[in-house]
Amino acid sequence: WQCVEKYLQPFQLSPETLQEVSARLRKDLLRGLGKHSHHKAPVKMLPTFVRATPDGTEKGDFLALDLGGTNFRVLHVRVEEEAQKVLKMDSQICAIPQEMMLGTGEQLFDHIATCLGDFLESHNLKGQTLPLGFTFSFPCEQLEIDKSILIRWTKGFNCSGVEGKDVVQLLKEAIHRRGDYHIGSVAMVNDTVGTMMSCGYKDQSCEIGMIIGTGTNACYMEEIKNVKRIEGEDGRMCINTEWGGFGDDGCLDDILTEFDVEVDKTSINPGVHIFEKMISGMYLGEIVRLVLVKMTKDKLLFKGQISEALGTRGLFETKFISEIEDGLENAKKILTELGLDWSLVDASVVRLVCDTISSRSAYLCAAALATLVNRIRNNRKLGHLKTTVGVDGTVYRKHPTFSSKLQKAVRLLAPQCDITFLVSEDGSGKGAAMVTAVAQRPAHQSRLLEESDGEDNEEEEEEEGQ
Ligand code: GLC
Repeated sequence: WQCVEKYLQPFQLSPETLQEVSARLRKDLLRGLGKHSHHKAPVKMLPTFVRATPDGTEKGDFLALDLGGTNFRVLHVRVEEEAQKVLKMDSQICAIPQEMMLGTGEQLFDHIATCLGDFLESHNLKGQTLPLGFTFSFPCEQLEIDKSILIRWTKGFNCSGVEGKDVVQLLKEAIHRRGDYHIGSVAMVNDTVGTMMSCGYKDQSCEIGMIIGTGTNACYMEEIKNVKRIEGEDGRMCINTEWGGFGDDGCLDDILTEFDVEVDKTSINPGVHIFEKMISGMYLGEIVRLVLVKMTKDKLLFKGQISEALGTRGLFETKFISEIEDGLENAKKILTELGLDWSLVDASVVRLVCDTISSRSAYLCAAALATLVNRIRNNRKLGHLKTTVGVDGTVYRKHPTFSSKLQKAVRLLAPQCDITFLVSEDGSGKGAAMVTAVAQRPAHQSRLLEESDGEDNEEEEEEEGQ
């Protein structure tokens, strides 16, 4: 076991290290918000033009598109004021084949327009012109609620001709090329924002949205006067942090393991989204695989024999981690399926490796979330903050102990904050409808003025050029 420890020790982050990570992110949030520093900031802090969370008066029928995880979805959503409910009327999943994720933008958007067309046709909605919320889970420079420039692809996507372009325009052009249906006003939404907004109908103190799935990211309500890159003083705006990019300037190099470096090097976007690559579902399985391969090469596991599956990049899926940690029997089954000649000791070591790597992911997320809640508390000059975080993503939902580890660690790192975690059901779809509904709310403008509390906040000076 001592030999095993040697491999796992670099993944074990002490509470002090986590505090240090949280402090570094705190500085990076300021860089991202700064007027002159944001261009080069690794944590992009993107304004979303979502200025208010739901107040319960929203209503109507909407379409929602959801692109960014493993599937593309089209939804018909109804927001009901009386029942204070967001109802998913119908939805349809369209697979996006791997070639399309790496093909041309035109192919991708034609495919999206086709799926939407088919959906409208089969649900008799073609004659209507419904407003559409588009959950597009990639970093976008949002100029308005319906003008959103893709900064760069992340996760598994890399379509040509989309970076630097307005995604709404690309969607409209694709629909226009078909010419058989129309859509109403469009609202662009990141999945974190959708998640926050979908929980916000149920719990109006939901001011943070967090995703730990294929990728990881969070958004939160920031005081507009602190968002130096946009004009305006009053009220709040939701900021999409894109915290996955934390570390892209090398500031996390001291905690990266050789395995993280390898995962980054062999990814489709080396050097980009370093924090995400230590945390999210797209990468966790591969980190575990690399550790197991190294231990096997060093004759610590499987009698020194690497099976073909274990030796192949991407074949150790992140869902195996959840299953293996869930029980020894699962572990045995998966190791057999991977063609490995395992002993009982091997199976226990594999469980320990999975536990170590998923725990690190939970603790890093906790450090990042602690930074956000501490910031909101400071912004409002509160001794104690009570707030709600809307959460979604397969890693958070499916892993047996991830959420409890994360919650426990946040309590430690942000002791003056009392956080309720709400798992969002269908956040991306319902939330997109919600953003569209809030944007259309007649009383929206006047509420904005009421919401501004006029507090000064000179405490945190913008730190530029660091
Ligand atoms: C990636 C994307 C981000 C998204 C996250 C979770 O980090 O860049 O926009 O929110 O994945 O899906």
